[in-house]
Amino acid sequence: MKLRTWTASDITRGTKVLVRIDANVDLVRGRAVIGKYDKIAKTLPEIVKLRERGAAIILMTHLGRPRGKQTEFSVTPIALAMGKALGVKIMMADDVAGKDAEWLAMHLAAGEVMMLENLRFDKREEKNDPEFAKLLAKMGEVYVNNAFGVCHRAHASVSAITKFLPSFAGGLLAEEVKQLSAPLKKKTILIVGGNKLETKVPLLSTLGVQADLVIVGSGLLPAFKKGRTSVEAKKVIKLLGDRLRLPLDTRVDHRGKIIDVGRATEQIMPVWFKGAKTIIWNGPLGLVEERAGAAGTKALMKAIVGAAGARSIVGGGSTVGLVENSSFASKFTLLSTGGGAMLEFLSGEVMPGLEPLIV
Ligand code: 3PG
Repeated sequence: MKLRTWTASDITRGTKVLVRIDANVDLVRGRAVIGKYDKIAKTLPEIVKLRERGAAIILMTHLGRPRGKQTEFSVTPIALAMGKALGVKIMMADDVAGKDAEWLAMHLAAGEVMMLENLRFDKREEKNDPEFAKLLAKMGEVYVNNAFGVCHRAHASVSAITKFLPSFAGGLLAEEVKQLSAPLKKKTILIVGGNKLETKVPLLSTLGVQADLVIVGSGLLPAFKKGRTSVEAKKVIKLLGDRLRLPLDTRVDHRGKIIDVGRATEQIMPVWFKGAKTIIWNGPLGLVEERAGAAGTKALMKAIVGAAGARSIVGGGSTVGLVENSSFASKFTLLSTGGGAMLEFLSGEVMPGLEPLIV
């Protein structure tokens, strides 16, 4: 899949560009912290590029899932952190598409940057409301979507807005889609962690059947338990046959609950990864929130980056978070900025945010 990107003729000095970013991160004591590899950091180069073109930039993001205007979900901390990282003052609008935002946008000069309040403060955002999209569009002349993580949402700032403005993919979005669309080379390994098998079935039935090996994490194991195999697990077993690799052993906590894969599984991983050319990973192997549940996932990271010559792609909020904070981060080919979005993309879903941008 290839997306339309903007060129020098689309954006000239003073062009007002509405840029949809995905800066939906957990705030730390009310502050946004930008890590070296995280999704906010990855949106910065596009802003630098647009400013070099002399664009006047109107940033839009959501934060969390507020119910109406809840001040604790204000995106002001994001504007502050991004402004600091860019060395630019990001002017913060008091509203989303109201009088304050409109006024700021109207007076925005070349090279200046502003940010709208949390898009989800207005319930029309999630309804993909065309009238709301029109209000957003009115503030700019060009729309750039650089928010892969939200492209699976049919929301006004992602989908409906493209009907009212010349619309392009930002560099981050275009690159991510390119990487995720690259042909799977034999041998392809898919690793699926997390704990809700039913949410992984679409991925296993599409990408899973194209992979040569499919490894599942310990959280999914209960569904495969002999004598109590779930309907979904039976479906997966039938689809994948002997390409399915369940953990060989597990770690349990003091109550006997499975919290991770065990040592034997960790040790066999490098064998499974031998000769791999494409590795795609979504979801941790164990309960990584608990220290004792993270060993298997760490061993997995090591095995993936140790698979010489393999393209490695990782997605999913908690999984990417772990990789970002490890010494392996720079060794992965792609740390996807999308969790749910990556799953849907790889499952072959037509995504509302991408469809209007496909060339
Ligand atoms: C994410 O963090 O995965 C994206 O920002 C999407 O957020 P959402 O699941 O609340 O739509």
